[in-house]
Amino acid sequence: MSAEKDLQTLLAAMAPTLREGEYVFVQWPDGRPLPAGAEAAVREAEGLTVVLPRAAADSEGLAYSFVAAWITLEVHSALDAVGLTAAFGKALADAHISCNVLAGLHHDHLLVPAPDAPRALEVLAELSAESRQQERPTLELRSETEADRDAIYALVADAFAISPATGLPAVGEPAEVAVLRGLFEAEEYLPDLSVVAVLAGEVVGHVISTRGWVGDHELLGLGPLAVTPRLQRHGVGSALVQESIARANAAGERGIALLGSPEYYPRFGFVPAANFGVLAPDEAWGDYFQLLPLALWPGGVHGTFRYAEPFSLA
Ligand SMILES: CC(C)(COP(=O)(O)OP(=O)(O)OC[C@H]1O[C@@H](n2cnc3c(N)ncnc32)[C@H](O)[C@@H]1OP(=O)(O)O)[C@@H](O)C(=O)NCCC(=O)NCCS
Repeated sequence: MSAEKDLQTLLAAMAPTLREGEYVFVQWPDGRPLPAGAEAAVREAEGLTVVLPRAAADSEGLAYSFVAAWITLEVHSALDAVGLTAAFGKALADAHISCNVLAGLHHDHLLVPAPDAPRALEVLAELSAESRQQERPTLELRSETEADRDAIYALVADAFAISPATGLPAVGEPAEVAVLRGLFEAEEYLPDLSVVAVLAGEVVGHVISTRGWVGDHELLGLGPLAVTPRLQRHGVGSALVQESIARANAAGERGIALLGSPEYYPRFGFVPAANFGVLAPDEAWGDYFQLLPLALWPGGVHGTFRYAEPFSLA
């Protein structure tokens, strides 16, 4: 099972479980080999701290002051998940329970004062139950309106702050923002094919397809496509591309061309455009210039693709 990152899912599924026994933190004597029962160790400037069962510390004759119960959150949390520690830390703090956290590769482990263990388990169970009851916002896909424009420019500027083409930070406003401003005013703008993804009232993604041509054949040019950076890799981009394809098919469009990653777009059916005899405006684009023939693809479309005029700003 892959590691979970979504905070609400983590809280809902955290399944706090109490390990048997009591645990203590001790200062480990320099040079003494670690005992088999050592559960965790942290090297500090002052020496090595070891967490181990209380009985093991007693048999080694080591001093300790804090006796803990050990609670494991059984959910498989990603090490780069955001907010889980803060959420259970706050719930326990509100209940006046202190909490020392150890993170393993798979789980978080909470060491709370042993007498507080029953109450800590209750607090964590309540936190988990609350999160299961919360409604999840659903992703809405709808046509963009003029009122969305500022939010779209801001999210496109964020998404392209590092150029996907060069991997370098954009100097000033990313070129994609200027292209979009131009597209919204251009004759090639098709309002139904400019789609925003909205989550809990926030515009978190946008995609636009505009009129393009090969000779006299009308096709679509897709792009820019952008998802707000903190929500990338959660399916928003895929939802926008799939919505664009569905809308284009429903509108009787013939095919969609784009310049984009050959790692990303083939999952939606895009192939190198040259396979269909459709050539990129710039030969150097190679397989990055891709095409999706739609249900009404006419065949016999050969030549160089011409984008809407504002793309010359890119
Ligand atoms: C590219 C972008 C639109 C994708 O949207 P997203 O919501 O992050 O992507 P999704 O969650 O729908 O898809 C995630 C999958 O696509 C892959 N993916 C995402 N961006 C990718 C990229 N630039 N190149 C290759 N693969 C990519 C992920 O690895 C992941 O693959 P997996 O499902 O096999 O794990 C978004 O990351 C973005 O805005 N990037 C910055 C701007 C940009 O590059 N726009 C596109 C220019 S062509």
